[in-house]
Amino acid sequence: MKSIYTGIYLFLLHTLLSCHHDTDKSTGGKEHTSNDINAVHIPPDTVDIPNDESADMIRYGRDLIINTAYYLGPDGIKGQYLNNKMNCSNCHLDAGTRPYGLNYFSSHARYPQYRGRENAVLTLADRINNCIERPHHGKPMPLDSKEMIAMVSYMRWLSQGVPIGQRVPGDDGVDLNYPARPADPEKGKAIYGQHCQSCHGANGEGQWKSDSSTYTYPPLWGMQSYEAGSSMHRVLKAARFIKANMPHKIAYWDKPVLTDKEAIDVAAFINDDRIHPRPQPRKSMGYNNIKVKAIDYGLGPYVDTFSEMQHKFGPYQPIIDYHEKNNIPVIF
Ligand code: HEC
Ligand code: HEC
Repeated sequence: MKSIYTGIYLFLLHTLLSCHHDTDKSTGGKEHTSNDINAVHIPPDTVDIPNDESADMIRYGRDLIINTAYYLGPDGIKGQYLNNKMNCSNCHLDAGTRPYGLNYFSSHARYPQYRGRENAVLTLADRINNCIERPHHGKPMPLDSKEMIAMVSYMRWLSQGVPIGQRVPGDDGVDLNYPARPADPEKGKAIYGQHCQSCHGANGEGQWKSDSSTYTYPPLWGMQSYEAGSSMHRVLKAARFIKANMPHKIAYWDKPVLTDKEAIDVAAFINDDRIHPRPQPRKSMGYNNIKVKAIDYGLGPYVDTFSEMQHKFGPYQPIIDYHEKNNIPVIF
């Protein structure tokens, strides 16, 4: 009898261990996500920029995405549109070419597009101006400026081969499992101290380059950081970016450092307005069509009855369930 039980025990133990091993291999030992990490889209390489009349504009567009503050910042040599010295590529990593790093893989293929926030159809140039006005807290660039045309040319080149209106693997944030409890900024503070502070600073201020032209490590809160109306200010949007990409050059979408809960808690800490001020929106933070408001957007009114606190910090699953039950879009 005893040996049968031992046998069952060993069998279960083995199953348990081998399961654990599999989990480790596929997700880096972190919580499961449904992203197929083996099938990310591969964008064109800069060596393949065509040698035709568009080449200079494509290269200039890429340069603008990386050195945005130099060209378009408060002291910009081509116009002062941004109100901070962050660069597009601080968020749109590797000039918008990193899988799960807010890339532009399919952007050009998906615009013009209906946007609920404006309740209008926006072109890609309009959408670029959204980022200039919100995270960069700036004023819109003329749609016919050389700089705007260059950025759109770069994104158009980058999206080549992507079917119109389609998404490609890796062009979105990673999927997260939502904890049953609200996001916890206190827990996030400890995670920040352990994994983020060495670069982004004790007060989220980042670190200037020696000539103060831009940042070596961009700021996460404070008056020099992204404004309150922008997508990075949303806990889930930020958490999906953070899990796949931070700490910088240590974490990758297929090799995350933080668990889903940790990414959500640290995103809540960074974006907690009760402790961390940031520029307030110049434009209304409102949505013209509240039916398609992102579920983690922290400012009402909503089509559902959940509070601003619950929308911002969760728990998110009851909101998602309510939306699905009532046929309301679930937007992240
Ligand atoms: C603080 C971070 C941040 C900065 C800086 C930033 N963006 Fe964004 N941008 C975002 C986020 C977050 C989104 C939303 C992506 C989403 O909806 O998944 C976004 C979306 C976009 C989109 C739409 C992409 C798509 O495929 O739908 C474009 C285009 C864009 N940004 C261009 C720019 C440009 C150009 C700059 C520099 C002038 C810039 N952004 C600066 C965070 C940022
Ligand atoms: C080794 C240094 C380093 C560490 C550690 C690090 N980051 Fe970053 N982070 C960066 C750099 C550099 C960028 C900009 C990337 C670029 O411009 O290519 C960045 C960009 C960001 C951004 C988007 C830009 C902005 O300023 O809003 C966020 C959000 C962010 N990091 C959050 C975090 C969080 C949360 C952690 C901890 C889990 C973390 N980072 C750890 C270096 C770091």
